[in-house]
Amino acid sequence: MTAPPTPEAATKAVFAKHAVCLVLDYGSQYTQLIARRVREAGVLSVLLPGDASMDEIREVSPKFIILSGGPNSVHAEGSPLLSDDFFAYVAEHSLPVLGICYGMQLLVHQLGGEVQTVVDSGEYGRMPILVERDSVLYAGEAEAKQLVWMSHGDSATRLPEGFRCVARSEQGAVVGIEDAARRFFGLQYHPEVVHSERGVATLRRLLFEVGGLRGDWNMSDVLQEEMAKVRAAVGPEDHVICALSGGVDSTVAATLVHRVLGERLHCVFVDNGLLRFREAERVMATFEQHLHLPVTKIDVSERMLAKLAGVSDPEQKRKAIGREFIETFQEYADELKAKLGHAPRFLVQGTLYPDVIESCPPPGTSAKHSHTIKSHHNVGGLPEDLKFTLIEPLRELFKDEVRQLGRLLEVPEGFIARHPFPGPGLAVRVLGDVTQGGALDTLREVDEAYIEAIREWGLYDQIWQAFAVFLPIRSVGVQGDQRTHSHVVALRAVTSSDGMTADWFPFQPDFLRYVSTKICNTVRGVNRVVYDVTSKPPSTIEWE
Ligand code: XMP
Repeated sequence: MTAPPTPEAATKAVFAKHAVCLVLDYGSQYTQLIARRVREAGVLSVLLPGDASMDEIREVSPKFIILSGGPNSVHAEGSPLLSDDFFAYVAEHSLPVLGICYGMQLLVHQLGGEVQTVVDSGEYGRMPILVERDSVLYAGEAEAKQLVWMSHGDSATRLPEGFRCVARSEQGAVVGIEDAARRFFGLQYHPEVVHSERGVATLRRLLFEVGGLRGDWNMSDVLQEEMAKVRAAVGPEDHVICALSGGVDSTVAATLVHRVLGERLHCVFVDNGLLRFREAERVMATFEQHLHLPVTKIDVSERMLAKLAGVSDPEQKRKAIGREFIETFQEYADELKAKLGHAPRFLVQGTLYPDVIESCPPPGTSAKHSHTIKSHHNVGGLPEDLKFTLIEPLRELFKDEVRQLGRLLEVPEGFIARHPFPGPGLAVRVLGDVTQGGALDTLREVDEAYIEAIREWGLYDQIWQAFAVFLPIRSVGVQGDQRTHSHVVALRAVTSSDGMTADWFPFQPDFLRYVSTKICNTVRGVNRVVYDVTSKPPSTIEWE
């Protein structure tokens, strides 16, 4: 009998089946977006740090390479550069390379041109450029003038031999270059952001017409491939555990693994006393009735709240919650070991692509986090000595791709479209001590009234995340001719694509009036409602 393929072999098989566009990350805040635009074009994108070794690059066997932007200048000491081996590899395989911003400056600098820092005259923000329509980069464009999103201090002032300038800014800076024969391309602006109106069209033209890629990567393939990887990794006698949070990521990951392993998957849902209104009931009902996924519910709310009593510091709260989670999880694993006769060897996690990207800081900045540390962080910081092999079927996906996968797995729509909810739950939404008189119950009622109102007004799907925050202060009010001295709650609603940056949601005044009246009229002990109008940065989405 032949041994089943390892997950690494299964990953290689995916790379062999689909042409890969490799994105080398030099630390731009937009790198994720580049990877994402490529995937939206139906091309499998793989992201590696800019200082990835040639062995790592060869393993991916890319058909197209994009060099991202980044905060560095090619002239700064220690800035990441491309190796001679990289250029030899690209020439040997005749690979198209697109450099964006810092990526373009790398090409210019390393192929014999000149990049200069033009003091006090960088170009930032949305601005018009003029493109040459007889070029490869802009072939078929209807207009020579385009609006693009620029963000650079350095500029290419002399091009390497073989290159031509095919786009300029109004100030005359070189913003688009190509060497069609060697298939090197460079853009000084960011084609991946929505503010660059023809940017995605340019990217697609390069991928399909220059790179010859087909756009044949889709979610059903991903589902089949990820199921095959689970089948390959888990032996016939092995058991697998999964901590469900009630969120879309862990639910989709568990449902996928359940399709392959059936009752050898053991799910646990921990009620930590910090959940939303009737959350535990709702989640358990969805798992049992709709997903037919057996879940053990463990109620540690009393234990948890006892440990949190008197703790006000946000970090200490998170740590206490993490420790309690680990203890509960360990107890569950021990119980299973006693029941099955041997310990489960695998742990399913809903780690997403942005989590993986976050763990790859740009070269030359901080030390790389290991994949394990970041993944464990997802379920509340599981320690190394739990000794599980991780199964992470969503590792290559963004949130909305996970939602698509969930639909293929017939996860109920109401579940798929849920706003994210943080692991430490309402503890980061009651400022200060979570056990202060009735705070959690008040917050649950306010939050429920707020979310209900958002749904009634048809706004839920336009918002990335909405929630209420309990403030540890009281304000004076007047209700029914009586002076009150009651609680203040803050409402937050943000739009975002990945939670890394966010903007506050512009509710109409009528909605705000409706919801504040509803809350003050229906929730005892609240006499004031405020709305948070801060973006991230400078704030974070959660208040703690
Ligand atoms: P912040 O507040 O950092 O949050 O802007 C960004 C996104 O992450 C969620 N969040 C967490 N999720 N454990 C989690 O599982 C946490 O400790 C945690 N803190 C924040 C937050 O709800 C938002 O979606």
